[in-house]
Amino acid sequence: MKKLAVLTSGGDAPGMNACIRATVRRAHNRGLFIFGVRKGYEGLIDNDFVELKSSDVSNIIQRGGTILHSARSDRFLTEEGRARAASNLKKRKVEGLVIIGGDGSFRGADALRIEYAIPVVGVPATIDNDLWGTDLTIGFDTAVNTALDAIDKVRDTAAAHDRLFIVEVMGRSAGFIALEVGVGGGAEAVLIPETETDLEGICSKVKGRISRGRTSNILVVAEGDEAGNAFEIARKIEDISGLKSRITVLGHVQRGGSPTAADRVLASKLGWAAVDALLEGAWPCMVGEINSEITRYPLADSWTKRKKLDPLLLTLSENL
Ligand code: F6P
Repeated sequence: MKKLAVLTSGGDAPGMNACIRATVRRAHNRGLFIFGVRKGYEGLIDNDFVELKSSDVSNIIQRGGTILHSARSDRFLTEEGRARAASNLKKRKVEGLVIIGGDGSFRGADALRIEYAIPVVGVPATIDNDLWGTDLTIGFDTAVNTALDAIDKVRDTAAAHDRLFIVEVMGRSAGFIALEVGVGGGAEAVLIPETETDLEGICSKVKGRISRGRTSNILVVAEGDEAGNAFEIARKIEDISGLKSRITVLGHVQRGGSPTAADRVLASKLGWAAVDALLEGAWPCMVGEINSEITRYPLADSWTKRKKLDPLLLTLSENL
């Protein structure tokens, strides 16, 4: 292999820049030329490539977002879109593609590999941490710390006013962020899509706490909880128990900001590992890290297998 390309796809995650940097520098280190593709698969289709030199990735390790920009591409879901993407890669003689993103992005990459024999390696980067084959995804640690900081602040005002708060965090189909910040922030309950939400039980728990003189109560809800979003849950809680609550939706603030040390280091390791995986013919795979060891699992595992929540964290969230 002589020429690679790298892109970021799907929801951005803090640490994507650190990963681009490591990918580019490892590529140069192994004597390769590397393109950056702007706006994810949209840029592949629109031929939006730029050569990345080592100096182009200076001073980005600490920056949130992605210098390559990202997108959710509907066109890449079509055969025509993928045909154009493959043709642009072939015209430029790109022999390997690094995709920094989440499960949807890897599914698209696998289609490109199957239909056009393009070597692909995925690097897990999403604040949701919902990818099988790695303990953590790039961006999760930063998002959790951002959300936790907000929850600590909400706790102050909740205690000052003896109020019940419902804090909504991201996670359309996964509760990893909610569970982590629920335990870390001492939430009274954590509502996530993976477990059945018992609103009656939550109401009696909160009422019991109030009757024992506890001044603040915080419920953390993942946006994809089956009982509804924070507003719907607040309404249902009031219907069941008469308890009124205040709502804080953290939203996209969780996706921004300077990556934590853990995310920068993980991103650096995985960007490096992705180039090595391509050169060693280990594609199609997703590189990850499990128990401090770099892993390479078949790319399809990342979107066909479901990562499990830590059962101990679930127990803690219910009992502490
Ligand atoms: O990338 C993951 C994620 O942040 C989810 O947690 C969230 O549901 C979704 O992206 C939001 O996506 P968008 O920014 O495209 O609305």
